[in-house]
Amino acid sequence: MGTVPSVVVAPRAVDCPHFPLILDLMTTAHLKGKCTPAQHRWESLPPDAPRDEYFAALRDVLRESYLADPDNPYRMSGRGPEVGPERWEETRRCIAEAINRDGDFMDIGCANGLLLESLIQWAAHKGYAIRPHGIDFIPELIPYAQARHPGHEDSFEVANAFYWQPRRQYHYVRTNLEYVPKADWPEFIRRLLDLALAPGGRLIVCHYDEHPVDVATVLTDLGYTVAGQSSAPHVSLAWTDKPSTLR
Ligand SMILES: C[S@@+](CC[C@H](N)C(=O)[O-])C[C@H]1O[C@@H](n2cnc3c(N)ncnc32)[C@H](O)[C@@H]1O
Repeated sequence: MGTVPSVVVAPRAVDCPHFPLILDLMTTAHLKGKCTPAQHRWESLPPDAPRDEYFAALRDVLRESYLADPDNPYRMSGRGPEVGPERWEETRRCIAEAINRDGDFMDIGCANGLLLESLIQWAAHKGYAIRPHGIDFIPELIPYAQARHPGHEDSFEVANAFYWQPRRQYHYVRTNLEYVPKADWPEFIRRLLDLALAPGGRLIVCHYDEHPVDVATVLTDLGYTVAGQSSAPHVSLAWTDKPSTLR
């Protein structure tokens, strides 16, 4: 397996000038004002911060933003207050391109379950049925995801994607690279393929950012075969398939 390519961090025209990549689409309202203590902590995190410090700082800054307006489902899925259904579809429907059969779909970082709800509809337009599953490391979000998917309450749980020990395997697993420190990308992807994906399953890897990394290149450089790729404004994604039998 190779190393991941370096990421160019563009300067930000906001009050928190070094605000890191993951929050580009997540805290528009915050970025217009002053940094909160949680944002300052995340912003000043050194690149070589211990993994658990990274997770704690990330969880705190996301919790603050996602729970700021529980009446806004897009906000609770990490989008700015200006995002509505059209922009949501413009920037998320690309994920449905990876769906090519029925199956159980695990959304890692499911937030309030809105992406899964949308993917169920978009997959149905293609003639496929997917069953929703999700994990998220912000406990307060899980009840919202469960309420959005009645009958599937047991398919949602609190877990940190990096340490997660799946109880079962899935036909689809979707994740974002930025959930873990960059140094952990190779191990993160390998763990998901080994532990969470059923044989023949599909790992869908996304990167959300104003200047997203080319996820297909990341996967290729790590030695994986890219089965497909797509993009949307501020979104890059690619997918790789787990062999259905041992080679
Ligand atoms: C941008 S939202 C994604 C919402 C939806 N899945 C989508 O793709 O639009 C990111 C979610 O991932 C969660 N998250 C970030 N890092 C995580 C980690 N290490 N483990 C579990 N969840 C994580 C956040 O709490 C947040 O709810």
